[in-house]
Amino acid sequence: MSTKKFARESAVIMTEMVLPNDTNTLNNLMGGKLMHWMDVVAAIAAQKHSNSIVVTASADNISFQEPIALGNVVTLKAQVTRAFNSSMEVFIEVTAEDIPANKKVMTHRAFFTFVAVNENNKPSRIPELVPETPEEIENFQGALRRRQLRLVLAKRMKPEDAVELKSIFNLD
Ligand SMILES: CC(C)(COP(=O)(O)OP(=O)(O)OC[C@H]1O[C@@H](n2cnc3c(N)ncnc32)[C@H](O)[C@@H]1OP(=O)(O)O)[C@@H](O)C(=O)NCCC(=O)NCCS
Repeated sequence: MSTKKFARESAVIMTEMVLPNDTNTLNNLMGGKLMHWMDVVAAIAAQKHSNSIVVTASADNISFQEPIALGNVVTLKAQVTRAFNSSMEVFIEVTAEDIPANKKVMTHRAFFTFVAVNENNKPSRIPELVPETPEEIENFQGALRRRQLRLVLAKRMKPEDAVELKSIFNLD
């Protein structure tokens, strides 16, 4: 297996249409349905990077500001931002489009973390990720402090060990 892969090699675009079964009583897309689509598109990106089975380890805060209406076309783009040992962070961007009205809005951005696992469900080593574009480099650099924040919140890292995170608050 190659030990390095480009960020762009993991890119995935998924398109869905909001149908009556996907909506709440206000005829807007259910939050849980959107999170399901986000989980699927991000898992595919993580699989493409790792060439492995992956499991969702965490989803960073997702806020719902813009409702997505029945009949809208939802486009979900996902790409791995950084790979660690067995885990990788995936960035997801969601846009909703009312095609007849010619309106398109970016509705959500989120980061999910996936872990590559082997046939015994044990975390397995993944290739290093190489960012190329300015946006990929910015996401790659930010991934380390976001990882530390989520591991501290999950009680998997001591706050005093979150060196990268502390540096943005000038706590040293
Ligand atoms: C995620 C999981 C594989 C981690 O297994 P583990 O035995 O705790 O393994 P480790 O402690 O060695 O952690 C493995 C990696 O997961 C990462 N990780 C674990 N919990 C995490 C969390 N809450 N958020 C982000 N990353 C996490 C670790 O940082 C580590 O990353 P690294 O290898 O890149 O350094 C395990 O907790 C699991 O199987 N969870 C259930 C997954 C699942 O069913 N998902 C569907 C959701 S319902």
